[in-house]
Amino acid sequence: MKLVSPSLLSADFGNLQRDIEMLNNSQCDWLHVDVMDGIFVPNISFGQPVIKHIRKHATKPLDVHLMIMDPGRYVADFKAAGADILTVHYEACTHLDRTLHAIKDAGMQCGTVLNPHTPVSLLEDIIQVCDLVLLMSVNPGFGGQKFIENTYAKVRQLRALCDRKNPQCLIEVDGGVNLDNAPLLYEAGADVLVAGNAVFKSDNPAETIAKMKA
Ligand code: DX5
Ligand code: ZN
Repeated sequence: MKLVSPSLLSADFGNLQRDIEMLNNSQCDWLHVDVMDGIFVPNISFGQPVIKHIRKHATKPLDVHLMIMDPGRYVADFKAAGADILTVHYEACTHLDRTLHAIKDAGMQCGTVLNPHTPVSLLEDIIQVCDLVLLMSVNPGFGGQKFIENTYAKVRQLRALCDRKNPQCLIEVDGGVNLDNAPLLYEAGADVLVAGNAVFKSDNPAETIAKMKA
């Protein structure tokens, strides 16, 4: 699969409705929504009240990436806010299996996120539960960072693990994705690419999305 999930973190927060309508009319598949708590990551972004408004305007699934400690506390809240896909960090969950099942039971798709330093091999006993796995290709917290090259190897390892244990599981990559590395990531086995700066800082965001999918 070749899906694109533009990250609203790089949108113009003063004109969110305008930017969401641009995405509605573009070829993008999901909207990537980054929630940060200032503890798990050094930055704070936005939470459920803003997501409720995003949901009102967006016509596509909301792919909500929680960069918060102990995200299991908020599963029902993010469902109520309008999340369709909820991803939580391996590093932020003491009881990851419980949290992923709670997400599914709430009627959302669930995903596990790995920081750049967290090996794919740690997913061996949880991959069966995941609808998707998100590999961070930057250290989470900020848009516009440089892509970490080791990600290609991790995508290939994860593809092999999914082939062996959960072929339905989607592989998503987030951070520093652009028109140069996108084809290589799809080729390595990625299904969904998140792109913030590459989309919103380009002259024609809708065209950039179309090129990324091509
Ligand atoms: C980083 C976020 C990303 C970020 C990506 O912590 O998880 O989703 O918005 O932005 P770019 O594509 O600019 O690296
Ligand atoms: Zn993200």
